[in-house]
Amino acid sequence: MEKQELLYEGKAKQVYATQDPGLLIVAYKDDATAFDGRKRGTIQGKGAINNRMTNLLMARLEREGIPTHLVEELNSRETLVKKVSIIPLEVIVRNIAAGSFSKRYGVEEGTVFDAPTLEFSYKDDALGDPLLNDDHAVALALASREELALIRRYALTIDRLLGEIWRACGITLVDFKVEFGRLEDGRILLADEISPDTCRLWDAETQEKLDKDRFRRDLGGVEAAYIQVMERLAKSL
Ligand code: TMP
Ligand code: ASP
Repeated sequence: MEKQELLYEGKAKQVYATQDPGLLIVAYKDDATAFDGRKRGTIQGKGAINNRMTNLLMARLEREGIPTHLVEELNSRETLVKKVSIIPLEVIVRNIAAGSFSKRYGVEEGTVFDAPTLEFSYKDDALGDPLLNDDHAVALALASREELALIRRYALTIDRLLGEIWRACGITLVDFKVEFGRLEDGRILLADEISPDTCRLWDAETQEKLDKDRFRRDLGGVEAAYIQVMERLAKSL
């Protein structure tokens, strides 16, 4: 399958058409942004790591019953995926308070929740990805109630499965963001990526941050953290 025209360029990935109208090629970049694109930089080697990691994790989720857009990895940075229209919701599941949750509600980072907590943000950088509830999502015609219920069910199952996978690597899954898309027939699939860009991953022993917070917060050792997480995952699978 060959890349044809560039359909879309996001902050971390490009999306190309292919000869098959039902398939797209995603190409992962080393570019990193934070704070709705206001902070910019490069994380050397990130594209290849996020490509491989996303595919390993999505293949595993697919085997466990979560439908995903993954078709096949083409090379170190590129993957063939099913064409979906992305539902503009950032679906975030949190197991431990961190990031915007800690800031918004004044809860110390590291506070462990009794049960996972799920939230939606409206995927719109210009608006600052505002938090929204089911009623808002329905009012904005982003998804139906039935779709939101399915998305919620998928996201909580993904949290359980990813939690097990990372635990086996000595890593705590603090929180993550996923996105879903619709096939032409309306079926909902997990899309986008699952990587240290989109998950908070802490070393289970030391609580050291092994994810994009190292870039967001200028903690240093960004590349080394991505490499470490990838190596631990590859060994455990
Ligand atoms: P938050 O605490 O900043 O809301 O982030 C929650 C999770 O979502 C965290 O794992 C990082 C991820 N995330 C993204 O993948 N993209 C984003 O644009 C933001 C803000 C967070
Ligand atoms: N990727 C997001 C942005 O640039 C933010 C983040 O991951 O923190 O807006």
